[in-house]
Amino acid sequence: MPQHVQGVIAPGRNEPVRVETIVIPDPGPGEAVVKIQACGVCHTDLHYKQGAINDEFPFLLGHEAAGTVESVGEGVTDVAPGDFVILNWRAVCGTCRACTRGRPWYCFATHNAKQKMTLLDGTELSPALGIGAFAEKTLVAAGQCTKVDPSVAPEVAGLLGCGVMAGIGAAINTGNVGRGDTVAVIGCGGVGDAAVVGSRLAGAAKIIAVDIDDRKLDKAREMGATHTVNSRTADAVEAIRELTGGFGADVVIEAVGRPETYEQAFYARDLAGTVVLVGVPSPEMKLELPLLDVFGRGGSLKSSWYGDCLPSRDFPMLIDLHQQGRIDLAAFVTETIGLGDVEKAFARMHEGDVLRSVVVL
Ligand code: APR
Ligand code: ZN
Ligand code: ZN
Repeated sequence: MPQHVQGVIAPGRNEPVRVETIVIPDPGPGEAVVKIQACGVCHTDLHYKQGAINDEFPFLLGHEAAGTVESVGEGVTDVAPGDFVILNWRAVCGTCRACTRGRPWYCFATHNAKQKMTLLDGTELSPALGIGAFAEKTLVAAGQCTKVDPSVAPEVAGLLGCGVMAGIGAAINTGNVGRGDTVAVIGCGGVGDAAVVGSRLAGAAKIIAVDIDDRKLDKAREMGATHTVNSRTADAVEAIRELTGGFGADVVIEAVGRPETYEQAFYARDLAGTVVLVGVPSPEMKLELPLLDVFGRGGSLKSSWYGDCLPSRDFPMLIDLHQQGRIDLAAFVTETIGLGDVEKAFARMHEGDVLRSVVVL
């Protein structure tokens, strides 16, 4: 029997979001219905609402979530009702050219639920990143459910489903930060701070946090930054070079997504160093760099999609490290809110007041 639950939809471009009744079908083959316990508010949800991702309104927002599996469809063996899971948007297919080359973290054909969730009048919903978790329950592909230690708080666990995983993964998976490395992180919101946490976990000797907001720099220091630079008042490239013996950092992580901060990252790394772009640019942005510098400075310029994570490998590992006190994921939760507060959370995000607002159900 299809179920009726409450969920937050974005009805049209730039229209305020609202809570509506959502119809959830029974899980079909390969699908699961998950009872959501917590879901973080991410920039991508705001981008959906603004129509910046695509025009497939109405969206069922929310994608950074944890909950318990309620029911599974035919053929589902990896998860069972009652399992505590983090939802991911990288349910790997196992057969695409990335997967068959042994690089499933790049999977080019990830799975989502085949059936549609709808409004009461039958209007089909587009779930954000194939998840749609600002809702009491949601329908996903079973591969989008990653089982983790159930003793962790859901509002903490859910964060790994998107932004925090993107930042930690930018450091440990894409940037390959290693013991003794110098790292600079440009932009210290939730993603940049997670890159700080990942760099510390990987054994970086120096972690330089760069932002234009002193509040963000204080927070980055709490998260493990060893040095901070306010790039509104200081030249970021000069400051990073000065802090690294005049050379630049081994790895620079760009967590803003703008040409000017990318350029800073490019010149703030040492020769043969690595730039990791995890901030997401918008379509009109252009980058201009002397090609000779691209050649002459060597090293690698990488992008990090979802922290190049493999959910089945990375989520349980990071939850275990959190439970052991070796990383503090709870520090990312600024406030917990209700389903009706998502619009307000978007406003607070815009003001730069929060790392994460998390909807708790
Ligand atoms: N130089 C340095 N820092 C900057 C600059 C700049 N020119 N412009 C903005 N910032 C800082 C902000 O002060 C803020 O602390 O970058 C940070 C961005 O943080 P958030 O807005 O909280 O964004 P976050 O969730 O961390 O995501 C960062 O990654 O996944 C993407 O879409 C996301 O592009 C976004 C980026
Ligand atoms: Zn694949
Ligand atoms: Zn997200």
